[in-house]
Amino acid sequence: MKKSSSNSSSSERETSGSLKILDQKYSIIRNLGGTVNTKAHLVKDIITSDILAIKIAQKEEKDELEREYDFLTSFDHPNIIKPFIYVSEGALVSEDENKLLSYKTEDEEYFDSKECAYFTLKFYENGDLFENISRGGPVHEGMARYYFLQLVNAVEYLHLRNVAHRDIKLDNILLDDNFQAMLIDFGFSEECRLKVGDKLDDCERANIRGTKGYISPEQLYADGNDLICFKKCDIFALGVVLFILLKGVRPFESPTRDDEKYQYLILKKNSYFWKMHQMKRREFSNKVYSILSHEVKSLVCDLLNPDPNKRPDISEIKEHPWFAKKEVLSDEEIKKLMSDRILN
Ligand SMILES: Nc1ncnc2c1ncn2[C@@H]1O[C@H](COP(=O)(O)OP(=O)(O)OP(=O)(O)O)[C@@H](O)[C@H]1O
Ligand SMILES: [Mg+2]
Repeated sequence: MKKSSSNSSSSERETSGSLKILDQKYSIIRNLGGTVNTKAHLVKDIITSDILAIKIAQKEEKDELEREYDFLTSFDHPNIIKPFIYVSEGALVSEDENKLLSYKTEDEEYFDSKECAYFTLKFYENGDLFENISRGGPVHEGMARYYFLQLVNAVEYLHLRNVAHRDIKLDNILLDDNFQAMLIDFGFSEECRLKVGDKLDDCERANIRGTKGYISPEQLYADGNDLICFKKCDIFALGVVLFILLKGVRPFESPTRDDEKYQYLILKKNSYFWKMHQMKRREFSNKVYSILSHEVKSLVCDLLNPDPNKRPDISEIKEHPWFAKKEVLSDEEIKKLMSDRILN
């Protein structure tokens, strides 16, 4: 699986040239990822030698970053990342001369001002779920369920506060030191508070946010005047996440009528959808957990339902027999299983 980026144009880029220093306090070790507007870096505190992550934006994109920081600091949930400090007037310079910084790429030059804004975060060395699944293959149903339960709890917390994440994907789920899921990247998050008539409704004017392959069909087909429910878009993305955890590959390229796999979900031929995946599977041949329970398959198809009105909301997901099952792996078991995956 290749990493796909959020829907502003982006690519993986490394900082070039000499060592970069942020506010004479942090030296930048490497790029962790990110889009053109914001980037995450691994940094070292020059005085204390502490290793941290920072999320940084150049001056022009400062409001976007500040908005993300405000969202993050307004939450208090074990599966949602908590940032440390926000600096609105930082300066990123090269070590040798205090000269203007530029990040050079093949076709463009950007981040050409040394003025920037950033916030700091604890660095989680176990990486994100995308890297974990790409390297180690799919996980068995019990592990997928463990993570899905945590994600649903985090998303329930957001939805109850009328916030939609809008970019749920494996790359935006970090694993903390105990391999617990940690939702990150609230750059696209929005409050859903549109007034329809005289009451608040869950819907908002349609705009496309998210990452290809996780973006719901109603966003792809909407025009600017349509109303869509951003929370239901999050549910769709949760369905993609659950599928990838179980199968190690994407469920489809894009949820459209001409997609050879998604069309079966549109036609309500769910068994063909699963058969297509059985036939195409070559990767991870020694680790395939191809026999999935009927219950988990039905939940995945519910989450990926093309019709947002028929897609369950969080409370309905919690009532689904697969979700409501009593057996859950313990935190210790998950730590052991995940540590073993990293070693192998
Ligand atoms: N605190 C952290 N510890 C370890 N890795 C991190 C941390 N924060 C971010 N990352 C890594 O950096 C990547 C990019 O971070 P983030 O998603 O916040 O940036 P972004 O600019 O919104 O990127 P994108 O548009 O690609 O999602 C993440 O997918 C994750 O792998
Ligand atoms: Mg991200």
